[in-house]
Amino acid sequence: MESALWICLTALFAHATSLSVAPRSYDTIVVGLGSAGTTAAATLARAGRRVLALEAQDRVGGRVKTVPFGDGIVEVGAEWIHGTVNSSVYDAAITNNVSVVLQDPSYQVLKSDGSEYTNKELIYELMEYTLEAQEYPPEVPEPLGKFLTRKLKDYLKEKHPELLDDEGFIAELLEFLNFTINSLESSNDWNDVSTQTTSVNLEGPQTMSWHRHGYKTFFELLLNTYNNGPGWPTLDIKLNKEVTQIKWPKDSTGKVEVVCKDGDVYTADNVIVTVSLGVLKERYTTLFSPPLPDEKATVIEKLTMGVVGKTIFSFPERWFPDVSTFVFFWRPEDRALYNDNPWMLQLKQAFVPKGSGNTLTFWANGEVAKLIETLPEEVVKEKMMHILRRFMGKNVTIPEPTGMIRSNWYSNPFTRGTYTYDNLQLVNYPNARATLAEPLLDAAGSPKLLFAGEATNSKHFSTVHGASDSGRREAMRLLSNNE
Ligand SMILES: Cc1cc2nc3c(=O)[nH]c(=O)nc-3n(C[C@H](O)[C@H](O)[C@H](O)COP(=O)(O)OP(=O)(O)OC[C@H]3O[C@@H](n4cnc5c(N)ncnc54)[C@H](O)[C@@H]3O)c2cc1C
Ligand SMILES: *[C@@H]1O[C@H](CO)[C@@H](O)[C@H](O)[C@H]1NC(C)=O
Ligand SMILES: *[C@@H]1O[C@H](CO)[C@@H](O)[C@H](O)[C@H]1NC(C)=O
Ligand SMILES: *[C@@H]1O[C@H](CO)[C@@H](O)[C@H](O)[C@H]1NC(C)=O
Ligand SMILES: *[C@@H]1O[C@H](CO)[C@@H](O)[C@H](O)[C@H]1NC(C)=O
Repeated sequence: MESALWICLTALFAHATSLSVAPRSYDTIVVGLGSAGTTAAATLARAGRRVLALEAQDRVGGRVKTVPFGDGIVEVGAEWIHGTVNSSVYDAAITNNVSVVLQDPSYQVLKSDGSEYTNKELIYELMEYTLEAQEYPPEVPEPLGKFLTRKLKDYLKEKHPELLDDEGFIAELLEFLNFTINSLESSNDWNDVSTQTTSVNLEGPQTMSWHRHGYKTFFELLLNTYNNGPGWPTLDIKLNKEVTQIKWPKDSTGKVEVVCKDGDVYTADNVIVTVSLGVLKERYTTLFSPPLPDEKATVIEKLTMGVVGKTIFSFPERWFPDVSTFVFFWRPEDRALYNDNPWMLQLKQAFVPKGSGNTLTFWANGEVAKLIETLPEEVVKEKMMHILRRFMGKNVTIPEPTGMIRSNWYSNPFTRGTYTYDNLQLVNYPNARATLAEPLLDAAGSPKLLFAGEATNSKHFSTVHGASDSGRREAMRLLSNNE
């Protein structure tokens, strides 16, 4: 559906440009068509600006990636709309009558002998208490894991002192909390994350799902192509166009030149760069000419982006109970069986996506997520099915999967990770994200090289809405500058 749409669009543009004089020069070039770039390009085009959007991959969406799978769709990248109040993403759905649904927080806790953990309310209570303790950080910033461990132990001492003697349970609970924080932050260790963060959640439910519509609908709405919409006439989109160099003559008011890997060169008055922090880290020394100023280079080095991975299986039919998440708790005596493959102990939950009825997702993070990207597909499949059967196969015969999808956000040269988090070093660089967002100006003081993307959003980084807002921020900067 999406690709068919793109073929139509491309044909449309080819036709339009063959009738008029093909514009080789644009008002603005947008590099990257993720949430930030697509919002920036659409906002400018909607205001009548001539915009060229260059995207290295063969699709729009970036870290949003909806693919047909199972009996519906699955999200290989972003899963939910986090918060509904003042969310440009939620608003886009609602104003266009696209239904979004709440993913309910129902869950089962299963043990490694296949039995159900009977007191799951206790796990919920402890998880909720500990995760909420993040809202009340200590005055002096410290590693998040260290802080939350202390909070949890204090709480147990007061409310459930008998549990403190169960060392196996405490260790497993802490490991699960570490896993949960790492999944939320895309960190490798909850002690790499700072208790101090500028992140703010939007109000309202945090797990609204585009379900069978898919998150890709957000991009169709932005681009005015939803329901065969006509798109934006002054927006020219080119896929499979990897940008290798951006020449921005800072000492003059001349044009920027954007060079692609295939040799094509495009010019414009200014350029908005929306590639991920991971891509900037890898390329910033070669991507920009002249080089970026030192303060920009420094924050690119200091900010960090981690890895979250998804491995998704489809089954001949839905064989699992009707809850959203299955949480896996290891019994201490079963752990030693996995000494050869310790990463398997980090497969701590299976999740039921909303866009299909017969699929299950394993989340992984940090080094384990990187490892899963590199192991042979058959190995990943066999080990994960082994885990499913151990934890969930006591009462049912789990069928062989009919399909498997594995994310590759770290190996993908156009993402190099999943999202950014506030690490321990940022205490010394409190304005890092604002510095990353700052536009570079030409001799006349007009913005020439602009930056958007989730990493540049001090309050709403690591989200689709935060990325989108950053794209609108830069588009508005150009529109209000009115050069
Ligand atoms: C697994 C996963 C789960 C997530 N879950 C959620 C969630 O539930 N809710 C939520 O709100 N957020 C979630 N996020 C985060 C969210 O997806 C991102 O914050 C957001 O999509 C980032 O958008 P962006 O425009 O900043 O960057 P990107 O989406 O990375 O866009 C940058 C674009 O630039 C392109 N590009 C890179 N290099 C070049 C080049 N040299 N030339 C041309 N183009 C280039 C890339 O291909 C890409 O399309 C998740 C992310 C992942 C990966
Ligand atoms: C939402 O945005 C409006 C307008 O900018 C603002 O007045 C309001 O305080 C915001 N609400 C919340 C909960 O942030
Ligand atoms: C959404 O639905 C309402 C009520 O049916 C209708 O009035 C409105 O025009 C619709 N909006 C769009 C964008 O389709
Ligand atoms: C398996 O079935 C038994 C008996 O009906 C039930 O008590 C138990 O909770 C079930 N186990 C799981 C993991 O669902
Ligand atoms: C958190 O988990 C990661 C990944 O398994 C591990 O490397 C790290 O040591 C854990 N941190 C603590 C404090 O246990």
